[in-house]
Amino acid sequence: MIPQIITIDGPAGAGKSTTARRVAEALGFVYIDTGAMYRAVTLAVLRQGIELTDAAVTRLVQTLNVELHHGPDGQHTFLNGEDVSLHIRSAAVTNAVSAVSALPGVRRALVEIQRRIGRQGGVVMDGRDIGSVVFPEADVKIYLVADVDERVRRRLAEVQLRGEQVSEAVIRHQIVERDRLDSSRADSPLVRPQGAIDVDTTCLTIDAQVQRILDIVGEHRTV
Ligand code: DC
Repeated sequence: MIPQIITIDGPAGAGKSTTARRVAEALGFVYIDTGAMYRAVTLAVLRQGIELTDAAVTRLVQTLNVELHHGPDGQHTFLNGEDVSLHIRSAAVTNAVSAVSALPGVRRALVEIQRRIGRQGGVVMDGRDIGSVVFPEADVKIYLVADVDERVRRRLAEVQLRGEQVSEAVIRHQIVERDRLDSSRADSPLVRPQGAIDVDTTCLTIDAQVQRILDIVGEHRTV
């Protein structure tokens, strides 16, 4: 049998979302981008001008409906019925998301949704704490890394493709700062999950990353 839950964790820009999406497609699985869920909550916090305390944001989260839908052109993120897929990639959201996702009440609410989706099986889920906290018992856990210069280069190419004018220095600062905050927070920091298999993507093409993970999944197949 093919493993039913595949987790992919790692720092910003390691290639998680593209790789996870392609692995899911190859296996006929659903891809769950948990970073998009934290981004949607962050967008709501910014729009409503909510104070960044655990109590205030936890209250807000309980009024939100965050959903991921899959269409022919990929995954879309909905916040209370509105497609916010583009809004959640803005610089304002990117700069605030680490602080919002460090709040325990936010994590509790989103982890519950992630577990509910994952228990249905046939998922590839990427994030920062999926193999360590959300599904520590997952069949296959991947820890995706790449050196920081390469991650900066990739993020820069990605934002330029969206037509944004951002300097390399700004992207580098965002990535280094997000790594620091995501790895040092008290609740569910980014760590290499126990039992995870390391995949360093610094010198790998997307095709090679996807193939490497499919090979690992194949090795875990049971009869
Ligand atoms: O993967 P991403 O860059 O879209 O994630 C945005 C932020 O969300 C990331 O900086 C930390 C947070 N996050 C998290 O805390 N836990 C997850 N499982 C996924 C993302």
